[in-house]
Parts: sequence; structure tokens; C-alpha cells
Amino acid sequence: MCSIIGYKGKNAAAPILVDSLKRMEYRGYDSVGVATFDSGSILVRKGTGKVLEVNRNLNIDQMAGKIGIGHTRWATHGGVTDKNAHPHSACKNDIAVVHNGIIENYQELKEELIGAGHTFASETDSEVIAHLLEIHYSSGVKEAMIETCKRLRGNFAIVAVFQDGTICGARYEEPLVIGVANDGYFVSSDVLGFLEYTDKAIFLENGDICIVDNSKLEIFDFEGRPIAHPITQVAWELGDIDKGKYAHYTLKEINEQRLTVVHAGRQDQAMMNKFCDILASAKDIYITGSGTSYHSTLIFKHMLARFGKIRAETVVSSESQYALTSMDRNSVLVAISQSGETADVLDSVRLARNQGSKILSIVNVTTSSLARISDACLSTNCGPEIGVAATKSFTGQLALIYNITDRLCEKCLETERADLAVAVENVVANQGSVIKVAEQMKDASDIYLLGRSLHYPIALEGALKLKELAYVHAEGIAAGELKHGPLALMEKNTFVIMINPHDATFNDTISNAHEIKARGATVVGISDRNDDVYDYWIEIPHLKEEAYYPVVEVIPLQILAYQLALAKNADPDYPRNLAKSVTVR
Ligand code: AGP
Repeated sequence: MCSIIGYKGKNAAAPILVDSLKRMEYRGYDSVGVATFDSGSILVRKGTGKVLEVNRNLNIDQMAGKIGIGHTRWATHGGVTDKNAHPHSACKNDIAVVHNGIIENYQELKEELIGAGHTFASETDSEVIAHLLEIHYSSGVKEAMIETCKRLRGNFAIVAVFQDGTICGARYEEPLVIGVANDGYFVSSDVLGFLEYTDKAIFLENGDICIVDNSKLEIFDFEGRPIAHPITQVAWELGDIDKGKYAHYTLKEINEQRLTVVHAGRQDQAMMNKFCDILASAKDIYITGSGTSYHSTLIFKHMLARFGKIRAETVVSSESQYALTSMDRNSVLVAISQSGETADVLDSVRLARNQGSKILSIVNVTTSSLARISDACLSTNCGPEIGVAATKSFTGQLALIYNITDRLCEKCLETERADLAVAVENVVANQGSVIKVAEQMKDASDIYLLGRSLHYPIALEGALKLKELAYVHAEGIAAGELKHGPLALMEKNTFVIMINPHDATFNDTISNAHEIKARGATVVGISDRNDDVYDYWIEIPHLKEEAYYPVVEVIPLQILAYQLALAKNADPDYPRNLAKSVTVR
């Protein structure tokens, strides 16, 4: 939820830290701060706002020193204030720390520390870490890190700078990765924090502590035992994380979806076979995910049932503790996640694992925690997704789900795979018609999206995009449910989007459109076939393989949400109150 970065090397730290924080801002973005070490002292500058704004006000990138740590915050404990921004210092100002996660026992620790004479400057849970480190610092940095980590309950990734110029990191249930550059080290929540400087990474595991001291690196566990992890070459390139000619990452990522569909098809065949063999031999299949990835689980379930007569149950990850209660060694949990770091998804996996079940995963970040704890993992291969709203990762997930279905169900989807990429290209090129509809809808306060069968998850996904990007009340509804209640809401000034390609669901959904229109609402059709009932028609290409329609239906909805965000002066890349990777419960 927050991003953390540390740097110790031969260059000025502050400009590097500001640049890294800018690249990781999508992880959390209500406040920013940096601490640098220079001439024996630790300097801290921090404030509320986004990276560039806070940097402009405080000249963070001018801070002296070749050693430093930085943070962008997504508030959990304590309001969005300058004082609550990280880094947090202890009483003697000999330590500064940044933290991602939640310290569950912070109240108890805080009382103990106040009792021992410590004074707190913020309302955050994170500040206890700085004071605990300070207590143990007299025994050395290593001891301080070990003793502090042992006292913390909850989940944390920590980076700290000490008054002797040492940088340390620790990880428990939150990601932390070391970047190994020719002239220094990085400790970051994300490879995007240092990709501009190095593509060599060491992924820390739960319970690891690292110390960068006089340009050497030491890794050990919470008991102080040394640990060796390999250096991994990161596959992503710098070009992948630049906006290029686009005004926003979200727009760039929407436009990249032709390639997404193609790249998702490029799978390691041995891994694909392993994934499918485990799936095929399962007695029970559960599929889980959060947000957009949950909508992919619904499509996956549908595909397995329709083409393989394979029964699977979907579970929204945050509900898994109530739903994943009767798994065993013959069960399989398929976890779908762009980031592979979503706490709710990782909790589902732990729950399933504890019951002996196998874990399969579909991720975009192949170095993520989820990828590493799965029995088999497939990658959507769509490159870094920076916009907080999932766009290309969703179509990547769908394209991969088609591959898996095709492999499991004896080439049931052989037709038109190449044509799907062309169809996606056409939809992306047809943004003008969506922009016209967006102009009509810019003042709408309620938007309903209706679809049946495979199109219902797209109604849900479209509503999610409209909520998070355009801050408009939007609801996805199974079209057949209209008469069971939602029809009461249809009146003048209500907008209803019918997701209605010309397949077996077409006529029933057209009937719903008439019922809605008769109540005075405005009807928008997303379809390959026009109809008189539509007030506005967003045309999508006709596809021979009906199962592929969700990919071309969702893109106009992404564009619509993006356009409505612009009309409201909202920043589509950084929707208010949200973070890209939700690593807290
Ligand atoms: C999607 O637009 C959202 N930002 C969010 O719902 C997201 O899909 C969800 O948090 C799950 O993330 P994941 O795929 O990285 O697990």
C-alpha cells in the first residue's frame, strides 16, 4: 500500500529517492518523505501530497547525502498529516524508519515505550519501530533489527537509516527487494523503485533482515543466521515503465491491449502442462481473487463449466476464511492476482495450503509472493501495470484463461485467436464513439450496467472501473435480475449500459432494454449489432467465437471510465483513497 525505498551508494541519494518514489507512487500516494544521512546526522523532510508537489514545496531532491530512505504513504493508522508522513524518527534523532504494513500490537508497544520515557510525534503504528530500534541500537545495528522484528506483530516491510550511515531492511508478509547496482544498493518495495539503475534483484523472503554497511550486503533471519539468496535478472525493461506519448499510464495501458492478448499466449509449455494437469486431477476446484481479478475468476468458472463441464467455485478472496473451510489434499485453489501481493489473496492461499490443497496461480508479477508459493504459476506477461485501475492485466488474465481452457478442453477455442488481437486493435482505435457517449454521461450520478452469462462479470468490471476512476455510483447487474428489484430505480436521467453482443443472450437483454427505456432511462448498447432501443450505440467487432466477447466489451468501458475521470478533473492514474497493491487486510 505504501512504497518504501532505501539507497546507499556513490551518488547523491535524494534525487534518486525522489525519482524512485515517483515511479512507485501508484502503490500509495497521500504523503511523501525522505531521510538522508550526511556528515553524521539524519535529515528528514516530509509532507502531505503527491511526490512532485511535496518535492516542489520542500526541495527534497536537494537534500545532501549519498545514503537515504524514502516513502509514499497510503494512510492506515492516523490521518493524512505532515506528522504522520514517514520517515519516523526516534527521540534522539539517530534513526529514521519507513514502513509498509500494519503493526497490530502497536498500542501495547507504544504504552510500554511511553512508560520507558519515549515521546511520540505521530499517530501512526509505524513510529513504534523507530523507538524500538533506538532502544536496541546501543547493542549494534544487527541486534537492533533482530530485537525489533521479534517484538512486532502484524505485517511489515521496513527500511531504516542509522546514524552510522547503515541502511537496513526487514520483511514479514510485505514485499521487499534489494537492487544490486554497480555503485550501490537499493532496498525497495518494488523492482520499479530501482529498475532505472539496475535490473539485478535479490528478493527477500518472510523473516529476512538485510544490512547494507560500507557498500557490502548481509542477509540473515530473525535469529541472526546468515541467509543466501540468488541475484535475479528482472525481465521488465525501463521502456515498460514510461508513459511515452500518453497523457496517463491508464491510457497507455488501455492502448496496449492488442499486445496483451498476444503476449498472454506465450507460455512456457512445461509450466502450462503442469498447471493443467494439477487442475484436471483436482477433486474440488476453487478460484479466488480480489477486485478486477475476482471478475476474472467468474469468467474462468464459466469457461470451465461451458467447455469442460468442470465444476468450480469462485470465492472473493476477502471472504475466503468463511468459504474455504472444506478443502483437502485433493482440492486445488487457483489464485488470480495482477500483483501477486494482495493480502486477501495470500490469506486465501495460506488457508488452502493449511488444509493440504494445491495452489495454482495466474499473476502478472512473476517475482511476487504468490508466484513463489504456488505449485504452478502462469504469467499474464503484460508488463508492468502502473495505473491503479486494472486494465491490460484484466484482458491478459482473460486471454490466459482462454489458453488454459483450450488446453484443458481439447482445443475447444482454436478458432479466431489471431483475430482477437485484430478485434482488440479495432476497439482501441474506436475511442471516438466512446468519447461522444462520455460527453452525454458526464453529469450522470447513477450508471447501471447489465449483462447475462459471460457478460455479467463485464458488467461488474465496468462498474468497478466507473467507481474507481470517475467516482460515480455504478452497479453491475445480472440482466435477468432487473425485474427482481433494480427496475424500481429506472427513471429519467438514469443511464443504463447493456452489454449485449449478438450471441445467445442478445434477445433477452434487448427485452430488458425495452423495459428500462419504457421507464424513461437512457439506454447505451455495447454490441456488434445496433438496435432501435439504444439511445447510444458503442459498436464492437463481431466475433465468431462468442467466448472472446468479454475482452472487446470491457475496453469501451475502460475508455468510458477514463474519459469520465478526465471530465471530472480526476487523475485517472491515481484515484483518490486507492492503492495499486492492497497489501493490508
Ligand atoms: C482494479 O481496478 C483495482 N485497482 C483492484 O480492484 C484490484 O484489481 C484488486 O486490488 C486486486 O489486485 P491484484 O490483482 O493485484 O490482486
